Amino acid sequence: MKPLDAHTLEFGSLGDERGQLISLETVAQIPFQINRVYFIYANRDGVRRGFHAHRKLKQVAVCVNGACKFDLFDGVEKKTINLDLPTKGLYIGNVIWREIYDFSPNCVLMVIASEIYDETDYIRDYEQFMELARRFNS
Ligand code: TYD
Repeated sequence: MKPLDAHTLEFGSLGDERGQLISLETVAQIPFQINRVYFIYANRDGVRRGFHAHRKLKQVAVCVNGACKFDLFDGVEKKTINLDLPTKGLYIGNVIWREIYDFSPNCVLMVIASEIYDETDYIRDYEQFMELARRFNS
């Protein structure tokens, strides 16, 4: 059985007396070639989003401001991650169902992705996810 292919990353801050700076580069901090970045912000109170997995896409999520939580599931193993610091990233591999919730009002969630947007890479149907996860993750 493969372990759940998601883990947190710790980013060093290049801070000095003026403030903080974090730089994220392909390979040094991000374990794939970066092809897209998107932001999720101004979420309505109590909202829960995600509800999908990806076939090929790999992502790193960072709360650059505020906090939110991720529930991850690979069909066997579950993990909850609290993203609450700009120095903390969450790497998510393939065929992992994710739900994102508990967004703080000021949350800006930045997601760094290995591929440009492709709707055919999404698995949005839970039964289809479980079917693929059984083959891919066990
Ligand atoms: P959606 O997948 O519903 O977001 P979440 O998984 O966080 O709930 O995305 C919302 C809309 O934005 C949907 O119509 C797809 C579109 N979208 C893009 O066009 N490009 C992107 O990079 C992303 C992530 C979404």
